[in-house]
Parts: sequence; structure tokens; C-alpha cells
Amino acid sequence: MANDDQFKKVISHAKEYGYVFQSSEIYDGLSAVYDYAQNGAELKKNIRDYWWKAMVQMHDNIVGIDAAILMHPTTWKASGHVDAFNDPLIDNKDSKKRYRADVLVEDFREKINQKINKDVAKAQKRFGDAFDEKEFRATNGNVIRRQKQIDEITVQLTKVQEENDLEGFRQLIVDLGIVCPVSGTSNWTDVKQFNLMFGTKLGASAESAMDLYLRPETAQGIFVNFLNVQKTGRMKIPFGIAQTGKAFRNEIVARQFIFRMREFEQMEMQFFIKPGTQKEWFEYWKETRLKWHKSLGLGQENYRFHDHDKLAHYADAATDIEFNFPFGFKELEGIHSRTDFDLKQHEKFSGKKLQYFDHEDNANYTPYVLETSIGLDRMFLAVFSNSLVEEELDNNTTRTVLKLPAVLAPTKAAILPLVKKDGLPDVAKKIVEDLKWDFNVTYDEKDAVGRRYRRQDANGTPFCITVDHDTLNDNMVTIRHRDTMEQTRVKIEDLKDIIKAEVDVKHWLQKMK
Ligand code: GAP
Repeated sequence: MANDDQFKKVISHAKEYGYVFQSSEIYDGLSAVYDYAQNGAELKKNIRDYWWKAMVQMHDNIVGIDAAILMHPTTWKASGHVDAFNDPLIDNKDSKKRYRADVLVEDFREKINQKINKDVAKAQKRFGDAFDEKEFRATNGNVIRRQKQIDEITVQLTKVQEENDLEGFRQLIVDLGIVCPVSGTSNWTDVKQFNLMFGTKLGASAESAMDLYLRPETAQGIFVNFLNVQKTGRMKIPFGIAQTGKAFRNEIVARQFIFRMREFEQMEMQFFIKPGTQKEWFEYWKETRLKWHKSLGLGQENYRFHDHDKLAHYADAATDIEFNFPFGFKELEGIHSRTDFDLKQHEKFSGKKLQYFDHEDNANYTPYVLETSIGLDRMFLAVFSNSLVEEELDNNTTRTVLKLPAVLAPTKAAILPLVKKDGLPDVAKKIVEDLKWDFNVTYDEKDAVGRRYRRQDANGTPFCITVDHDTLNDNMVTIRHRDTMEQTRVKIEDLKDIIKAEVDVKHWLQKMK
């Protein structure tokens, strides 16, 4: 299936099976804002729990907090967001469409990269096993020319970004011949900076109301609580503070479904370390976070690191873990070495000391920070899009199956009476009553059992448990595995252990070792 088709299928499947709805759909929706439906809310919660377990509960030196979305406005002055949390935007005068200038250039560069990938794939097909990709890339004329073009664009893009050269930015777009995808023209306005924070007000009367922002990242709630947590938790460096929660950004280019939203959720962890040790912790967290991703079995080949050419104002090193989404490799998680920038800024703006007394060194210092930051919605999209497959079966039919990692699946098992009579529903409901203490399970008696299997496959349910007439005599049921469609006869009393063995968090997280 072409990538575009696959992505459309992902979006419609998410709606049809109760995972994600457009926000306020009856009023024609709100752009780049989404609601998680009955299955989506469960999947999202399971991803959040999987992260929390790995980051907070499995680390003796990491604790979790839940800071407020609304913070004192000086927070955002100190963090640099008021002055520097901008995106460069440009309008096309003919279509009146607005774009992010950097995204226009990056998309253009990616198209050249796609051409290289096509040439590589063609050559691979032609030469088969004898194909040496490295040599092909180093010697093929077309590839060399295109790679040179990509490298030049990267240098020019980094330069205009670093120098905040808005006129140069526009010129780069014009020089590259980038046209508006809607009007097809290059009739561009100047490039302007646009602050991404949403403003709001606190207070009853217009005169006394205080201007606030909805937080654009959860991290600042951690920084301002650094000393509170360190002292009350008697934390010794190195230690981490983690949290999950909503963040808000008035994104200019909000497309690609839940990939880039205006209201989204982050799972962030700030790891406080001794200055000078940031390089080794950067490597540690790169490796640890990649292992977490890989433990879910979405395919080793679907991840890669992308080191930043342009560092944010607070960082001395940064990398993205990119995932192969249906629209190509894109950022899923960021790992940033944030130095002591944030704590120092909050010290300066609040006038309060945010230092750590190191008993071993008998000295005070401002800790450095290593941050891991992942978008929960992006992780949802990675898991969901990767899991949705269309399978050709032996009998020339196809089935749509959502092969979610069992640990994350919203419903772990569906209990199905073969028919709606002869006492089978009673036995099935009793199994539901028993299993629901341990797992999220569902009861389904509508339609022929084959259709129910298909429905649960599309829903991502790892197990179907069928109660038939023999069950009444032997207390055994048929358990069907979603991915293999294999069916086995097992005792009702063994169900709990069989399901647990496949859905247990421990079983999955141990793969990180
Ligand atoms: N505290 C650092 C920070 O916020 P970021 O790279 O701006 O860094 C971290 O964001 C992660 O948050 C990203 O890797 C992405 O997964 C997620 N994210 C950022 N903006 C988003 C948006 N508009 N919609 C969905 N997820 C977003």
C-alpha cells in the first residue's frame, strides 16, 4: 500500500474503531485538536503507564510529579519562551495559505532524499545480493549530485536559522524554486517570527486580570520544583524528576493528524547531574530510551537518531529519536543536554537560589540537566500506524488486523459465547466477571463468531475466548491468538495465567535488558 493510502487508512481506522475523533466534530471540528475515544483513551493510558513504569518505578533515583498547566508568567520570560519560542512563517499571496518557512525547505530537501532512495532501491533490485549500497552511494553520479544539493541546503538553512536572517530565509525559498502546493506560485510574503504560546487571563475583572500562558512544555514545572523535590525527597545527584501532562502550542502548520497538535501531551524527565558529566549521561539516556522503544517490537529498522544541526538556546547537545511514520522518518522523542540554563535563569528571575550541596565534594553547584521528552500522542501514532496491517489469508480473503503490542492493547480479551442460548452466555459472562479484576476484557455475542473474530482483530484485542457447548461439560474454552489466528483448547482456570504471560508489563520491559 502506498504510504499516503496507508496514512488515510490509519486515520479512518482510528475513527471507525473508536480510537481518535476530531474535536467538536459536530461543529465541523477544531483544526489540529483531537479527542481520544473509548479505545484510544485506554491505549493512550497504557502507553503512559508503560513509560511511567520504565522511567519512574524502575529507577530508584527518579520520582514523578504532576505540576499545574498554569504557571506564573515570569516562568516563560525566564525560560526564554516569551522571546524565543517562535516559528518563522511565510504566506503565499495567491493562495493565502500560511507555511512554516523551515518546513517548506525541509520538505523540499526530503523530496531530493526520496529520489536518492528510489535510485538506491532500483539498483538494489537490479544487482540483488551483489549490491553494495555504500559503494553505490559513493560512486553513482545522480546520487552524488543530489546528496551535494541536500548538504548545501542544510548549510544554508542552518545559517539563516542561526542568524535569524528572515530576508535570507525568504531568498532561500525563492532560490530553491519552492512553490506553494496550492497555488503553484512563488509569490511569497516576507518571513515573520510567530510566537507559539497560547495566552490566557487569570482573574475576574478585565483591569486586574493577569496575562498567563498555557504551558508549551511540561519541563518548566519540573525546573521550578527542583529544590522542593530535592529537599523533600532527600534526592542525591544524579536524580530525575518525571511527569506527564498536557502542553499547548499554536502550531502554524498543523497537519498529519495527531502528529502535530495544538493541544497535546508530553512525557518528560529532567535528570539532574554534576556539571561536566553531561556527555556520558547524554549517551546513557540515548541508549536507554532507544531500548525502551525497541522493547515494544515495532521493528528495529523503524528508528534512527538525528543529531540537531541547530541547537535550541538552552542546549549543548541534542538528538531526536526518529520513527518511520507512514509519511517518513520524523521526530518522536527529543533527548537534550540542557546545561544549567534553566535553573540559572529561574535563579536570576526569581531571586531564589536553586543550587545543590554536594556532600562528597563539599561544594554548592547548579546542576546540569539531561532531558528526555516524548510526545504521548506521537507515540500513539507510531504504535497505531505501525500495528495496522492488511493480511492476505490462505483462502484468498484479506483481514484487517491491529497488531498492537499486547501490553498496550486497550482490551486484552473478548469473551464470546458461540451462540446466544443454551446457557453459553452465562458461562461467558462469568468468565468476564472473573477476568475483569486483572484485565480490561469485553463480552461480545452479536453476529457469527467469525465476524466477531474479525471485529476484535481490527480492534487490536490480542485474545478471543470462545465458550461452546463442550465448555458446559469439560470447563474448557477455545483461546484464539490475534496475530497467528492459532486456536487452542485450554482450561478456564488457566486463562488468567495465559493472558498475563503475554500482556504483563514486566514481560515486555525485561526486553530492555
Ligand atoms: N521540553 C522540551 C521540549 O518540549 P520539543 O522537541 O519541543 O522539546 C518534545 O518537544 C516532544 O514533544 C517532541 O519530540 C514531540 O514528540 C512532542 N511534540 C512537540 N510538539 C508537538 C505537537 N505540536 N504535537 C504533538 N506532539 C508534539
